[in-house]
Amino acid sequence: KKLIIINGPNLNLLGKREPNIYGSLSFIEFLEEVKRKYTDIEIDYFQSNIEGEIIDKLHEVGFNFDGIILNAAAYTHTSVGIGDAVKAIETPVVEVHISNTFNREEFRHQSFISPNAKGVILGFGLQSYELAIQSF
Ligand code: DQA
Repeated sequence: KKLIIINGPNLNLLGKREPNIYGSLSFIEFLEEVKRKYTDIEIDYFQSNIEGEIIDKLHEVGFNFDGIILNAAAYTHTSVGIGDAVKAIETPVVEVHISNTFNREEFRHQSFISPNAKGVILGFGLQSYELAIQSF
């Protein structure tokens, strides 16, 4: 199986950024661990702070990968464009969030991704990504 994890803005700072909410492990460290655990699954990784680059990546992988694990971060709550891209592609998208966005600010309760996602996993810390991998 061929999966890709796509992380949106500010997630390059994981480990340093608000560790009380997002934990103190960097995403690269976490990813190495997960790759060692799931050797039969090919897991690509892409991170961008730029909305259009996330859309371009969705187009690039959206017709030939088996699954996409997408944490669009703040764009989740703002981007009609990323939402439309998720709708336009064929590869199923599982939306993930590290934090439980529903026990945070009101503006994090809306998602432009969820209506077109295969499923949503949130609130389990970095383990949200692992649960998403297991869902494919
Ligand atoms: C996040 C939640 C978003 O509301 C926030 O903007 C993020 C990270 C999460 O993984 O918990 O940057 O997507």
